This record gives sequence, C-alpha cells and structure tokens, in this order.
Amino acid sequence: MNMNWFNRDIITIENFSREELEHLFNIADKYMNIKFKDSLKGKIIANLFLEPSTRTRVSFEVAAKRLGAEVVNVTGEYASIKKGESLYDTLKMLDSYCDLIIIRSPIEGSAQFAADICEHPVINAGDGTLNHPTQAMIDLYTIKNTFNRLDKLNIGVYGDLKYGRAVVSFILAISKYDNKIYAISPEQLKIRNEIKDELLNKGVKIEEFTNLEHVISELDVLYVTRLQKERFVDLAEYERVRGSYKLDLKSLEKSKPNMIVMHPLPRVEELTYELDSTSKQAYFRQAKFGIPLRMAILSLIFGVEV
Ligand code: CP
Repeated sequence: MNMNWFNRDIITIENFSREELEHLFNIADKYMNIKFKDSLKGKIIANLFLEPSTRTRVSFEVAAKRLGAEVVNVTGEYASIKKGESLYDTLKMLDSYCDLIIIRSPIEGSAQFAADICEHPVINAGDGTLNHPTQAMIDLYTIKNTFNRLDKLNIGVYGDLKYGRAVVSFILAISKYDNKIYAISPEQLKIRNEIKDELLNKGVKIEEFTNLEHVISELDVLYVTRLQKERFVDLAEYERVRGSYKLDLKSLEKSKPNMIVMHPLPRVEELTYELDSTSKQAYFRQAKFGIPLRMAILSLIFGVEV
C-alpha cells in the first residue's frame, strides 16, 4: 500500500495526514535494521543545498546510497547560481539530469517553486523560516519511538520560535495530535502571530511562557532550538537576545523522570554538553533516525518495496 506517497512532492508537513505519517513510520521501522538494499539502483538524486547543512544533506545522501541510488551534490558555493544563474534555470537543469530533487534554500517558497516547474518529485530540505517537513517527520518518529504514542503529551518548545523553521514545522506537526503545547521563549523570539492564530483557530492547545522554570515539571518533551543568527535582519538585535536562554542540568532539576530533551541540531550556545550523557538526551537518536526515516521517504516516493 503506497497511500498517497508515490511520486509526491514534500513541501510542507501540513500536507500530510496522520494516516500517511503512520504509514511512513511503519516503513521507517522496517529500515531501522537494514544496512543496504539496491531497490533504487539506477536512480540519480540531486541534493541542491543553497544553505549550510550537515544532517539533512548527509542523511539524505546516506539514505539514498543505502538504497542503491546515486547522489549528486550541488552547493550554493560552487553552483553557477554564484555566477548569477537563476534558480529557475538551475532547477530546470537538475530536473533534466536527475530523478528527484532535494532542495534547501534561504528563500521561503523555493521548494514549492521547484515543485511547480520540475517534472520529477521535489523534497523540501528546509526553506525560509517555516518549512522543514522531513525534519518534522523525524521529530514525530522520535516521540513515537520513545513514548509509543503521539498524543496526550505536554510538549514544550523552547528558544527561537520566531525564526526557527525546524521548530515551527515541529509545532505544526505535533499539533495534528491531541497534545498541549508550551511555547517558551524570550519576548523578542515569540512564535509569530499568524502561526499562533492559525493554531488557535484549529483548536490547538497552545500557551506562551517566558520562563522555563515555571513549566518544566509539567513537560514530557522539551524541544530546544538555537538562535537563528542567519535570519536576523538586524545583527544588533541578535546580539541583544544572544544568551537569553540556555538549557543546562540545573534547568532540568524539576523535570519528570522520563521527560526527553529534543533538538533538531546544530546546537550553538543554547544546550550544554553536560546533558549529553543523561537519560533525557534524545537529540542524537533523533538525528540518527534521519537515516531510516529518509530511506522510507525515498522508497515511498519511488514506489519500491522494503
Ligand atoms: N536539523 C537540520 O536541519 O540540520 P542541518 O542544518 O545540519 O541539516
């Protein structure tokens, strides 16, 4: 059963139903212990990354190679975009050379633009400040893998909720299920009104806080996100909020014993290394799940069996 995954563009997590996500997670479970299959032999995948990336680019490449596909990497530094070529022409070339295009871009709407002009499927690997759908799928998968459910949880999101596309996509994803969301951030980094209003209109239980200490004991999940320096228009503003939030061992003193700390990574100053060796640390397995999850995504889009 392929549900609606075959040949599909992945642009925003909002386009995916709970049933489609459940199907994806079942396939990812099967890939958890599969090192290599050649089910995508003969396929060539373009990794077009116009912004830095470690996890998304590499895990897509590893996932593709574990399925026998070839990957070509095109980065902003070396692509002819640097010489002034348009994104349109770049995409038209990749579409004529490859079977699937994965795109990361700083510009909101780039992935939808790519999907509109390309014949082959397009995966959004993060564009602008709103969408990082495959990261959101990994995040849900991590919670399901930990709690064996995706609802009836108190979910804290902590940090730069204004500019962080991973955390915004996560909020949109987890709000498909019946949870309470605690949006914790400094005043200047609060979730944007249009997103909050959309959630409230849908009946999502979301409440805003500026102090983690006031809510830490209620949380099952705390999803931390870094300050998105590259998205600040005014660097003086960035310097003003820099260091305004940080998670360390002390901040977790009153947390539930089985509460987990997630982070899409990379981390900078907002998450101390002393948490790495605690049982609450879930961010490394979250990153690791990128491989089976992205293997599942590629298999479903190409319509191959596990
Ligand atoms: N989580 C994430 O998107 O990491 P990268 O920026 O390293 O891809």
